[in-house]
Amino acid sequence: MYRMEAVKGIDMCDSRVSYGSVDFTKDDLVSQDDPYAQFNHWFKQAKECDAIAEPNAMAIATCSANIPSVRMVLMKWIGPNGLVFFTNLCSRKGRELEDNPNASVVFYWPPLHRQIRVEGKVKKLSEEESTKYFHSRPRDSQISASVSKQSSVIESKVVLRQEHERLKQKYADESVPIPKPPDWGGYIIEPSCFEFWQGHSDRLHDRIVFAQQSDSTWTVQLLAP
Ligand SMILES: Cc1cc2nc3c(=O)[nH]c(=O)nc-3n(C[C@H](O)[C@H](O)[C@H](O)COP(=O)(O)O)c2cc1C
Repeated sequence: MYRMEAVKGIDMCDSRVSYGSVDFTKDDLVSQDDPYAQFNHWFKQAKECDAIAEPNAMAIATCSANIPSVRMVLMKWIGPNGLVFFTNLCSRKGRELEDNPNASVVFYWPPLHRQIRVEGKVKKLSEEESTKYFHSRPRDSQISASVSKQSSVIESKVVLRQEHERLKQKYADESVPIPKPPDWGGYIIEPSCFEFWQGHSDRLHDRIVFAQQSDSTWTVQLLAP
């Protein structure tokens, strides 16, 4: 067991941020049947908040062989079937999702004192949809995705830069499409659970959880903070 004195470093014990005192109850939900309606409502408010640069940034946790790992990705789409993000399918997260399709994501919007957690299984987007989105990205990003075998060990960035430059010249003619790498694509997370969290200065935060039932309807419950 550790004793606190043994943990040298930065002491944040006296850091206290005020979370406001806005109550968030079941009556404040946009809908008690549809967590997507609540997600969209809060997401719109986050988008309108100047202090939130990337409201669509979410941490996604994956777990393989009982070892969890987490990193940020950008949600590019939310629709009635779930949340979409794009990545390298052979990256660490891609390999872990291949092994175990269960994923957990969290959005955190500090200026609003809100977090949303979503849990569900992922499925790959079709090649056609991934290719369509790939070609909607800036050509520079398309080239970067083509040269980077995400999560693999590299000697230095020099080789990547050289390869980037080579492809930039090869595809200088903008009418020539850059082929999508076969190992790059999208995932959709099909949610089985949403949790909406509203922070309070008195630490009696509000937590409202939607859980999907076997008949696809949703139940709503409060959780202790
Ligand atoms: C704000 C932010 C957004 C990111 N968005 C993505 C993304 O949409 N897709 C992606 O593959 N990596 C994204 N990354 C990089 C990942 O966090 C991570 O470094 C990379 O995907 C490799 O993760 P892995 O080795 O666990 O697979 C983002 C990083 C940050 C900080």
